[in-house]
Amino acid sequence: MDQATAQREAATILAAADALGADEATAMIRQYFAPNYSLILDDPVVKAEGPWLYTRNGNKIFDGVAAYSAANLGHGHPLVREVLKGFLDAQQPTVLGRFLGNPYMGLFGKKICELSGFERFLPANGGVEGPEAAIKLARRWAHKVKGVKGTAEILYAEGCFHGRTTTVTQMFGDDEPEAKEGFGPWTPGFRRIPFNDLAALEAAITDTTAAVLIEPIQGEGGINVPDEGHLAAVCKLCKERNVLVIFDEVQTGWARTGNMFCWMHEGEAARPDIMAIGKSVSGGYAPVAGILADNVLMELMDAGSHGSTFGGCPISSAIGYASLVAIEQEDLVAQAREKGAYVRERLEAIAAKSPRIETVRGRGLMFGIEVTKEDPDANAFSKKLLKMGAVIKGTHRWVLRFTPPIVATRDDLDHVLGLIEQAFVPE
Ligand SMILES: Cc1ncc(COP(=O)(O)O)c(C=O)c1O
Repeated sequence: MDQATAQREAATILAAADALGADEATAMIRQYFAPNYSLILDDPVVKAEGPWLYTRNGNKIFDGVAAYSAANLGHGHPLVREVLKGFLDAQQPTVLGRFLGNPYMGLFGKKICELSGFERFLPANGGVEGPEAAIKLARRWAHKVKGVKGTAEILYAEGCFHGRTTTVTQMFGDDEPEAKEGFGPWTPGFRRIPFNDLAALEAAITDTTAAVLIEPIQGEGGINVPDEGHLAAVCKLCKERNVLVIFDEVQTGWARTGNMFCWMHEGEAARPDIMAIGKSVSGGYAPVAGILADNVLMELMDAGSHGSTFGGCPISSAIGYASLVAIEQEDLVAQAREKGAYVRERLEAIAAKSPRIETVRGRGLMFGIEVTKEDPDANAFSKKLLKMGAVIKGTHRWVLRFTPPIVATRDDLDHVLGLIEQAFVPE
């Protein structure tokens, strides 16, 4: 296609999207996309900037979940957008067979290792590919280095969420039958242990244990924060017992909890062997994820052991590199700490006045607002807040997840905290 035709056709496509009314667009999504997600709004989002979403029918909504922490930098961060424009204008290759390289891959790899303190990065796409790759690496280590014969077991925590592939789907609890029903049989080699229970972990470890897989704060499970020092204690125990530690920082990473990664709150003693990352590593611009580890482990992933057509491709690397620079330049860690302390104070004050809030928990700008176990439940509060102009979603039945974009200003936060107060505090 020549340039003039492309421009004309592109104008037609853009105009068609602009002309599609709210009802029509919603109906098309409902008809043609699989029904595995239900839309909560019959009014599609047509513009997003920072923490704000703008809909076809002219509503302005605060994104209080930051696209499940994929938009820690807010929507449409200008630095990432500028790099992306320059990248496309220069006709850089967007994708290449992984047997070819591109400068952005080098920049991204170096930066992600510098920021995380690990020696190597294995890039992937969707977040679930992180824990998946970590499981493969841990099993390979167990078989080739630890000397496990047969099944090398992975321990995982009750209440966890690591994604939805056939391997990790078994990790959902029995209280979430919709996520598991009919999808078995399950991949062998996994065992559930209670979350935040060192004694249970110790008792579960055997000579064939390869690794323990844990979220440093359980996100989907209800913003469950382990005891102070637990992560470091897990690392110490696993080191003594020759078991790898995998922390899934897909949701807690990239400043969300007030440190670049959540384990860092407990210092080097809590440094995992393998760390899974995703979501905000791309500033919300593309699916970018992967795992980080040191050479001694990552060198086990030799040529042919693993791969992904788009994982680490040039456009993902350009977006990833720009996002990491933005995370640093915005000093997202300091922002999450400072705003997190403010939001916590306000939420606790609201909780003190509301008969319906059982407790507020979290770290940095990652909050769970647990409601008392009576009707209406957290999902009903979520619906009420949406009508008022804020997306704050329930995780499980009794917890609302509030994880605003870290770049939201004090005014933005005051606005949404005002809505939360109206929803929870009786007149
Ligand atoms: C801790 C954790 N791991 C993995 C995933 C899976 O990420 P994705 O939905 O991008 O596959 C999520 C998603 O919410 C998550 O919170």
